[in-house]
Amino acid sequence: MGNLPKNHSPEAMEEFFQSGPDPFKYQTDDHVARAEQYTALVSRHTKFGLARRLLDVGCGEGYLTHVLSDAAEHTVGIDVSQTAIARAKVAYSDLDEMLEFRQVDFLQLRTRKFDCLVLTAVLPYFDSRWDQFMVTVDRLLKKGGLVVTSFVSEGCVTDPWISRLEGDLLERVDTVEFTCNGLKHRAHLLRKK
Ligand SMILES: C[S@@+](CC[C@H](N)C(=O)[O-])C[C@H]1O[C@@H](n2cnc3c(N)ncnc32)[C@H](O)[C@@H]1O
Repeated sequence: MGNLPKNHSPEAMEEFFQSGPDPFKYQTDDHVARAEQYTALVSRHTKFGLARRLLDVGCGEGYLTHVLSDAAEHTVGIDVSQTAIARAKVAYSDLDEMLEFRQVDFLQLRTRKFDCLVLTAVLPYFDSRWDQFMVTVDRLLKKGGLVVTSFVSEGCVTDPWISRLEGDLLERVDTVEFTCNGLKHRAHLLRKK
C-alpha cells in the first residue's frame, strides 16, 4: 500500500490518489472475492436477489463497486476524490450504463433514496462527523433498506463500529466471516427499522 493519508480530509484523500493508480492495492483476486462476499450478503436479503438502487460510499476507483453492481439493478459509486472517480468512470461506467460514479462528499449527497448502502472500510472516515453521518444514512436509505459494513476482525479490531451503527435506526440481521489477504474480516448486514 502507498503511504496512507495522514488524515481523512478530502485534500489528503485526493493527494493519496494522485500519488498513483490503485494506492490501496485493491486490484487483487482477494479483493474481488471480498466484494463477492458483500454481493452474496445483499442478494440473500433482497427480493429476487437484486436491490433496485445500491450506493457504494467511498468507492475509490470502483474496483469493488463493479463487482457489487451484480447485486443491484442500478449502482452508484461515490468518493470525495476527483482522481479516483475519474479513473472509475474510464474503467467501468463507459461499459455499463447502470453503473455510475460521482465525486461528492457522502454527507453532501442529494439524490433519490437507495435500497442498499455499502459502507465497507469507510466508517472511520466519518468519526468526527458521526451525528451528521447517521442523519445522512437515514436521509438516503429507504425504510426496510439494507446497509452492508465490513471490518478486519483481528489486529485493529473494529467491532465497536458496528455497535455504533445499531440502534434506533438500524438493526443487524446477518453476519459473514471470510479471509482477505490473510486477514480475517467480518461483514454485517443491517436493516433500517
Ligand atoms: C479505505 S477506502 C475504502 C474503499 C472501499 N469502500 C472498500 O471497501 O475497501 C476509503 C474511501 O473512502 C473515501 N472517502 C473518505 N471520506 C469520504 C466522504 N466523506 N465521502 C465519500 N467518500 C469518502 C476515500 O477517498 C477512500 O476512497
